[in-house]
Amino acid sequence: MHLPKAELHLHIEGTLEPELAFALAERNGVTLPYATTEELRAAYQFDDLQSFLDLYYALMAVLRTEDDFAELADAYLARAAAQGVRHAEIFFDPQAHTARGVPIGTVIEGLGRALERSEETHGVSTQLILCFLRDLSAESALGTLDAAKPYLHRISAVGLDSAEVGHPPAKFREVYEAATALGLRKVAHAGEEGPPEYIREALDILGVERVDHGLRCMEDPELVARLVADRVPLTLCPLSNVTLRTVDTLKDHPLPAMLAAGLHCTVNSDDPAYFGGYAGDNFDAVRDALALGPEQLRTLARNSFEAAFLDHDEERRARYLAEVEAYAFD
Ligand code: ADE
Ligand code: ZN
Repeated sequence: MHLPKAELHLHIEGTLEPELAFALAERNGVTLPYATTEELRAAYQFDDLQSFLDLYYALMAVLRTEDDFAELADAYLARAAAQGVRHAEIFFDPQAHTARGVPIGTVIEGLGRALERSEETHGVSTQLILCFLRDLSAESALGTLDAAKPYLHRISAVGLDSAEVGHPPAKFREVYEAATALGLRKVAHAGEEGPPEYIREALDILGVERVDHGLRCMEDPELVARLVADRVPLTLCPLSNVTLRTVDTLKDHPLPAMLAAGLHCTVNSDDPAYFGGYAGDNFDAVRDALALGPEQLRTLARNSFEAAFLDHDEERRARYLAEVEAYAFD
């Protein structure tokens, strides 16, 4: 669907399509444990978040140079633009690369090169969000933020991702305080597989402005009331939830109930190369499975621009919102 939208929950490493993975593997002399792209795609059967993360981290071995990261981001931006994405706030996982000996500067400069020309090339404005891996230590997160200091002009926010259960937001209090002191905005994954309490911690202890996923808030009516009252955006990823079995089928997705409750929901793609679709595909999927009408779809698109970190450029936000209002559904 080409409805104008902002993508606010997108892991750039999760946009690595099998074809590009094989091309980069050949270029960099990396041997993949799969013979063909078909064989790799056939491995995309996941039981839960961890089973996906195992493959997601393994496949990153092909990303080595600045050019690799620039190519990855450019390919994503082209696909996103073709599906109506006008603004993208893009996650990256520096620790997954520095652990393999790839310097953080290589990652950020490579991504940055694609992002800085994106508006001209693809008509998509961009921001970069540095994510900490929550299954690594708090010290590792602090070291990562420190290593990113020469590149802060390219980064607008910090996030928290990877294996959720057993790694509550409170573990990262100190690094979020340090990020605040550096003037960075804050988001965190919470309530994807983890309990509603993790969403409260992300708000109360980390001070996040958006919650990534946040699905499990629906188990806690008091928390829902708070999220509605404070208009906290939730960056939902419907196709991800089905693939990682957070919900049984798309028809069981709580999105309609969440919208009816007054939650500030947005629809995003998470790791589109693995979960069967980009931002527009996620909109198509919820429209078809949940019978969302034009006004609900327009609300989701409007919400995405309202939740975007565009406070420094309200004119741009207003322009994008006007595009949403002007969009004609066929
Ligand atoms: N990293 C990439 N995708 C993720 C997800 N859906 N949840 C947590 N960490 C992730
Ligand atoms: Zn995610």
